[in-house]
Amino acid sequence: MTAPTGAQPTTGTPTATDDVDARDTLSFPPPADFAAAAVAHDDLAEAAAADRLQFWADQARGLLDWRTPFTRTLDFDDAPFAKWFDDGTLNVAENCLDRHVRDGHGDRVAIHFEGEPGDTRTITYAELTADVERAANMLQDLGVGVGDRVVVYLPLIPEAVVTMLAVARIGAIHSVVFGGFSAESLRARIEDAGAKVVVTADGGWRKGSVAPLKPAVDEALEGEGTDSVEHVLVVRRGGNDIAWNDRDLWWHDAFAEADEHHEAQAFPAEQPLFILYTSGTTGKPKGIVHTSGGYLTQAAFTHRNVFDMHPESDVYWCTADIGWITGHSYVVYGPLANGVTQVLYEGTPDEPGPGRWWDLVDRYGVTVLYTAPTAVRSAMKAGRQIPDARDLSTLRLLGSVGEPINPEAWHWYRQVIGHDRTPVVDTWWQTETGGIMVSALPGITKLKPGAAQCPVPGILAEVVDDDGNRVGPGGSGYLTIAEPWPSMARGIWHDPDRFVETYWSRFPGRYFAGDGARLDGEGDIWLLGRVDDVMNVSGHRLSTAEIESALVEHDGVAEAAVVGADDPTTGQAIVAFVILTAAAADGVDRAATSEELRQFVGRRIGAIARPRQVVIVPELPKTRSGKIMRRLLRDAAEGRVVGDTTTLADGGIMAQITELM
Ligand code: WT7
Repeated sequence: MTAPTGAQPTTGTPTATDDVDARDTLSFPPPADFAAAAVAHDDLAEAAAADRLQFWADQARGLLDWRTPFTRTLDFDDAPFAKWFDDGTLNVAENCLDRHVRDGHGDRVAIHFEGEPGDTRTITYAELTADVERAANMLQDLGVGVGDRVVVYLPLIPEAVVTMLAVARIGAIHSVVFGGFSAESLRARIEDAGAKVVVTADGGWRKGSVAPLKPAVDEALEGEGTDSVEHVLVVRRGGNDIAWNDRDLWWHDAFAEADEHHEAQAFPAEQPLFILYTSGTTGKPKGIVHTSGGYLTQAAFTHRNVFDMHPESDVYWCTADIGWITGHSYVVYGPLANGVTQVLYEGTPDEPGPGRWWDLVDRYGVTVLYTAPTAVRSAMKAGRQIPDARDLSTLRLLGSVGEPINPEAWHWYRQVIGHDRTPVVDTWWQTETGGIMVSALPGITKLKPGAAQCPVPGILAEVVDDDGNRVGPGGSGYLTIAEPWPSMARGIWHDPDRFVETYWSRFPGRYFAGDGARLDGEGDIWLLGRVDDVMNVSGHRLSTAEIESALVEHDGVAEAAVVGADDPTTGQAIVAFVILTAAAADGVDRAATSEELRQFVGRRIGAIARPRQVVIVPELPKTRSGKIMRRLLRDAAEGRVVGDTTTLADGGIMAQITELM
């Protein structure tokens, strides 16, 4: 673990160091009209500070419908394994659907769906409820019961949302695997989760053509450890030809056969809702477990207050895929619990042209947009004439997530997309935290470009030094959470020890997030990037170890070291250094082998893990005790003068590597 160093965000175009103080105090007060109508008020923070547990209990009661009211707010006796509201019962799907229909909002649009080829569907709350009822029966007909796992490997289409909610409705557990992950990544997740059913599609639209999904499922199920799977439900989406097996069923057939009406049963607040796999510092992804009542409370609370949701008038759009936590909390659970109208778009931002996203904002009258800095930087690169040619005047609030947003991108986002008026909130959180933890509240907070700024009311986010002592304004160190929160992970699937070890042992009694952070003179939080071997590529988390193990599985590779290098668009980019086996090195065509290894990693893990560059080297920089000095490799990958090499076993190796690059 390396301590965070600079006061600069780790990504994006750096501002001159002597500008740091100026940036700390540059701020945008909330526009008066926005503040006057804002959902969040100062009394939230006051109430949370006065009695944190009472505050969360009030939120849980106010935002959700409980079948059995809870009397216990928090049980942390078995720390760090928390139970929230645990003697209460509720049905998550009913909270996202039926109750809005009951409250007279059945005709409100839940989802404006647009497929990449341009097909559209408008789905009201009444229709979505009906679809989920039928899908719940369909899953039960296939033998899915309480606590069973359903793996979801779908494009971003309405059936993905329907499946997640249907699983929730029957008290089963979903595990969504991003459609860009490979057959092997899918296999490993199916095995770890012990899935009974896999829901997939023939294919989905990406970059103007159909990307097949079903073949990866077939391949995964031929692999080891997947005997638990009894059925594969296949949505027809791409229209591409697919192979068919005995265990396969068309979604539309099974759906048509299922009963229309489904009585939702109540489940305990601590009923597991989903497992979502995320990369850690070792090779094996971790199955992060989230439960029902606390998770939904914080998803709904943050969605409402951070995004200033007025469900009767807003059109909200979060661009994340449901394969990531952002898609769980801020496409499915938060917005639907709040009864909001949202846009769901299947494809890529630049299909058929670079204006696609802004066409969607224009067409649906999007009021609140939530996306990642990498998308903002891509739009910047494409040029402001593209958004300028569309009517974006409905936008009134913009959000950012996934990595620190560099001030240049923040300003561009506000000026060009937000017509020089809208607040921009930078939200820090993680798969493990389940919901937003650090963010400005629009209408209240004076915004500082580049900073996530304030803990959400009811969240004790604190920066500590190496010894676990809180730092004061101007100090820097590690971001930690000092007290449990409702949407915190309840553990790692089947691996409680790893949960304790990874998050709760670095600073006893505190949750350690893995991020460096500093406090400015006013005590606002600035995130500084990861302090472990986790990379952040386009807002997606990848571990260096995972990519290194994929590389050494290739016959020609003897050893590999991977680093995340700063990249102007993706935040970080993957750069791999490999030593070939003697046989492979003999008369090697370097360019062809590098390309082959890039593709190999893409096939093993998924396209997002494909390195930007694979450098074939004669040796890696190692200390005399054999430890690889990744810091030096990062210097080389970022084109910097290589740091101190005096502790290396072979002092000349870095000169050779720099030469090779
Ligand atoms: C890691 C979590 C939470 C949804 C997206 C990623 C980084 C996330 C920010 C932000 C600085 C951020 C952190 C964190 N991160 N948002 N606003 N500012 N860093 O979820 O895959 O679980 O990754 O993403 O490093 O630890 P994830």
